[in-house]
Amino acid sequence: MARQKTGIVELDAMLHGGFLERDAVMVAGSAGTGKTTLALQHLVNGITKFGEPGIYLTFEQLPDQIYRDAENFGWDLRKLEQQDKFRLVCTSPDLLLEPDGTGQLLDSSIKEIQPRRMVIDSLNHLEMYLPRGGDMRKEAYRILNYVKTKGISPLAIWETQQSAGQAFSVTDVGMSFLVDCILLLKFVEIESAMRKALVIMKMRGSDHEKELKEYAITPQGFRIQGGFSEYEGVMSGIPHKVASEKFVDMFRTASDKHKNATSH
Ligand SMILES: Nc1ncnc2c1ncn2[C@@H]1O[C@H](COP(=O)(O)OP(=O)(O)OP(=O)(O)O)[C@@H](O)[C@H]1O
Ligand SMILES: [Mg+2]
Repeated sequence: MARQKTGIVELDAMLHGGFLERDAVMVAGSAGTGKTTLALQHLVNGITKFGEPGIYLTFEQLPDQIYRDAENFGWDLRKLEQQDKFRLVCTSPDLLLEPDGTGQLLDSSIKEIQPRRMVIDSLNHLEMYLPRGGDMRKEAYRILNYVKTKGISPLAIWETQQSAGQAFSVTDVGMSFLVDCILLLKFVEIESAMRKALVIMKMRGSDHEKELKEYAITPQGFRIQGGFSEYEGVMSGIPHKVASEKFVDMFRTASDKHKNATSH
């Protein structure tokens, strides 16, 4: 099966080689978890490592801000744009929602750079502009399909509300059937520290890593670190050490006490 690598080595390993080509991917997570960074890195790596041009479609930020933020990670988007390998499309969602709006907005960029990857940042912004009575899932489905039929793999960002005990709400579940693969990014509080966890929630037609992994946003971008295997309940927001680990801790404490007692 053809795989599309993110270029983030540990993430590609979690995905058993990468996303399946043309699959619609959703990167879901609460504000500030690093969704934009991950999405940009996927595009930039696609261009620089795998020869796959990409479009970044955003309703979110001003263009200058995106160029600047990317530059801070060492990604020169302007250069890639001059080389016709990248396009930043900043627009208001209502244009995209018009009949034929998707084509009008994207077709010239598609012709110019022959993209294989596209990021949509974010579906929530699209939802905000939806006319009363509009069907968000239908619109999102239409747009994702349009992109797919052009031979482009879409990666859509979905901002979730982080609340204790729940990482994915009913609305999120409603959106999730639209896509083939979901990466969930989540803040977790463990022993008074805020840490970040990533999990592959689903991947149609492929096996994948099921465990949670810790990650960080570094000056070089997204970096996956270890697992959370010594903790249970990280997803629910109430992490606690697993029983075996507690036992090891108790044993260690007991043996330390013993050592201290015998050394005096
Ligand atoms: N150059 C950098 N070096 C290190 N860390 C950075 C850098 N730029 C951003 N970050 C960290 O990454 C975090 C999230 O970035 P990002 O914008 O990708 O998240 P997001 O999920 O898209 O947020 P939002 O929901 O606001 O759109 C920032 O809050 C910051 O902690
Ligand atoms: Mg963002």
